[in-house]
Amino acid sequence: MTSLKVNINGVDFKNPVIAASGTFGFGEEYSEYFDVSRIGGISSKGLTINPKAGNEGRRLHEVTGGLINSIGLQNPGIDEFIELEIPKMRSLNTVILANMGGGTMDDYLAGASKLDKADVDIIELNISCPNVKSGGMAFGIKSCVAHEVVSEVRKVTKKPLMVKLSPNAEDIVEMAVKCREAGADSLSLVNTFKAMAIDINKRKPVFRNIFAGLSGACIKPMALRMTYEVAGAVDIPVIGMGGIMNAEDAIEFIMAGATAVQVGSANFVKPDIMLDIIDGMEAFMKREGIKSIDEIRGIARG
Ligand SMILES: Cc1cc2nc3c(=O)[nH]c(=O)nc-3n(C[C@H](O)[C@H](O)[C@H](O)COP(=O)(O)O)c2cc1C
Repeated sequence: MTSLKVNINGVDFKNPVIAASGTFGFGEEYSEYFDVSRIGGISSKGLTINPKAGNEGRRLHEVTGGLINSIGLQNPGIDEFIELEIPKMRSLNTVILANMGGGTMDDYLAGASKLDKADVDIIELNISCPNVKSGGMAFGIKSCVAHEVVSEVRKVTKKPLMVKLSPNAEDIVEMAVKCREAGADSLSLVNTFKAMAIDINKRKPVFRNIFAGLSGACIKPMALRMTYEVAGAVDIPVIGMGGIMNAEDAIEFIMAGATAVQVGSANFVKPDIMLDIIDGMEAFMKREGIKSIDEIRGIARG
């Protein structure tokens, strides 16, 4: 029997394919199109302590092989998530990761304290948000700042703590090691790459904030390299993502050392693409006589 089951920080996943934050809402809309219970898990839309309306102006822009977004963490806030969304998410019968962001340390601590008591399986800490006290610099850029936020959040929750790394970090390996030292139970990577686009007719940047986040097929080789590097530097589960569009891409990340993968932009191409990825992974394993994902994890590392 071929098994795609994985365990991350004591949480059982029926397979290693998780919907990436911000690209799958809270999963409910998709349940009209396919059996969402078949996927390994859902990382919620990025949550903040207060509701957020998100950024003004253009929010999504397609480029060759990818997507640039400037959503600005639009979300209903953690209280509404707990009250209204978690019960609906639970009925989807898959693992729930609560993806959380914040602008200040206090935001992160207040949010994590609330999520600690909520019915979620894992807290995924998005440290790509600006740290107001450090002059608007993202927590995810400097590893010492990331160390501080992860250490403090660690003190207010006993839930498994997955820290989501930014590819824009000064040194992603040092960042991973520091987050591990600060108490992360697992790491997910990568978030979007800082990018931009210019509207040549308006002679202006497409996005109000000029810079925005690039995702999709075009980032895969870089995301894969970072996953490989980070998986070699830490002894905790690493969840890889960035441009996974099919089963072969997902298997590459597992062979680079990832315990599981997340799929983001591909959901916009085909809403049930994660089922194709799960079926394709299973078919590959059967064809190759592989019984468990453990047999191929990190196998490309030599
Ligand atoms: C429209 C959009 C919204 C996103 N929102 C979030 C978010 O709220 N929190 C977060 O951690 N990542 C967010 N991401 C990043 C994705 O979760 C993922 O890290 C990134 O898109 C790379 O994976 P992909 O190439 O498969 O899309 C967002 C990505 C997109 C495209």
